[in-house]
Amino acid sequence: MPRWSKNSLFSSDIGIDLGTANTLVYVRGKGIVMNEPSVVAVNDRTDQVVAIGKDAKAMLGKTPPHIRTVRPLSHGVVSDFEVTEELLAYLLDKARQGRTKLFGPRVVIGVPTGVTNVQSRAVRDAAKNAGAREAIILEEPVAGAIGSKLPVREAVGTMVLDIGAGTTDIAVISLNGAVASKSSQVAGDRFNDNIIEFVRSEFKLGIGERTAEEVKIAVGAVMPLTNALEKTVRGRDLATGLPREITLTDAHVRDALALSLDALMDAMKDVIESTPPELLSDVLERGVTIFGGGALLRGLPQVLAKMLGVPVKVAPEPLTAVVRGAGVVTEDPAPYADFFIDEDETLGEA
Ligand SMILES: Nc1ncnc2c1ncn2[C@@H]1O[C@H](COP(=O)(O)OP(=O)(O)OP(=O)(O)O)[C@@H](O)[C@H]1O
Ligand SMILES: [Mg+2]
Repeated sequence: MPRWSKNSLFSSDIGIDLGTANTLVYVRGKGIVMNEPSVVAVNDRTDQVVAIGKDAKAMLGKTPPHIRTVRPLSHGVVSDFEVTEELLAYLLDKARQGRTKLFGPRVVIGVPTGVTNVQSRAVRDAAKNAGAREAIILEEPVAGAIGSKLPVREAVGTMVLDIGAGTTDIAVISLNGAVASKSSQVAGDRFNDNIIEFVRSEFKLGIGERTAEEVKIAVGAVMPLTNALEKTVRGRDLATGLPREITLTDAHVRDALALSLDALMDAMKDVIESTPPELLSDVLERGVTIFGGGALLRGLPQVLAKMLGVPVKVAPEPLTAVVRGAGVVTEDPAPYADFFIDEDETLGEA
C-alpha cells in the first residue's frame, strides 16, 4: 500500500535536491524558494548552527577553531548525519513559515542511483527527524528527467546524465523505471581535484579548491576553442612557500581533465552496453539529455556526442532540473509512485 497520502492541502509539501554542492528547495504551489550551497557552520561549544548556505560558505577556511564549516553530503550521500538533519530542519522550517505546524510536510528527496539501502534510509530518517510527515525518496536522474519534461512514463528509452559535484549519475529510463544505470564519483569535485593536481605537478604551485573551481568555470573546456580562454591565479610556490602568480588556459584544464573525461565516457559506454536493443534505438534517435552543474562545462555535449555516436543536449536550466522534478512529484505524486524507493525495501537490509 502506498504510504503517500493524497490529502495535504494544509501542509507545505516540499521537494528537495540535497546535493553535494547545492541544496535547492521547491514548495508546493510556490516553486523554487531556495538555492544555496550545501554548507553548514556549527559552533562546537554550543552545538548550534551558526550559519547555513551562502553565509556558511563565505566562512569556509576563515573560522575560529570552535566553529566548524561542514559539507554534510559527500559524493552525493550523507556523510554527517546530524548536520544533514540540522540542514533539513532549517529548510523545513523555512518552507513552513506562516503555515500550521500541526502536520509536518511531505518531503520528496532525490538520492544518487545505486546508493545503498543504509544511505537512503539515512536520508529518510534525517527528513523524518527534521519534522517531515513522510519522505518520498527517488533517484536523482529520474527526478532530473521528470524536471526536464522527458517521457519517463512512456515505453520509450530516455537516457540522462546528471553531472553534479560529488556524483555523476547515468540512467536509461522507460515505463516508470530505470532500466540501466550507473553512478560514478567522477564529477565536479573530482574535476577540481584534477586541476589542483595539474597545477601542482606542472607549475609546482599549490592552489585551493575554491580557486580550482573558479578556473574550471572561467576557462574549462573539453574541446579546443576558437578563442583561447585564460585566467590568472595566485597560489603558494611549493619550493619557497611564497605566493606566486600563473596564467592558466582552457588547454591546461583540458589536459587536467583528460583522464576524468575518459572515465565518464567509459561509464556511459557501460550503461549503453547494458541497455536492451529496442531502448537503445530510442536513445540513438532521441539522444542523451545532460543536467547538473557539470553539464555547463564548455564543449561537453559535442565531445560526448562525437565519442559515443549519440546526439547529446543540455537540459534547459541544468542546475535546477532535479529540484523541479522533485517539485512535479510534490504537486502530484501518484503517477510517479513506481519510481519511489520503498521504505520496506530499505528496512529489509537492516
Ligand atoms: N559553468 C560551469 N562549468 C563547469 N562546472 C560547473 C559550472 N557551474 C557549476 N559547475 C559545477 O557543477 C557542480 C555543482 O552542480 P550541482 O549543483 O548539479 O551538484 P550537486 O547536485 O550539488 O551535487 P551531487 O548531485 O553530486 O550531489 C560543482 O562541481 C560546480 O563546480
Ligand atoms: Mg545533484
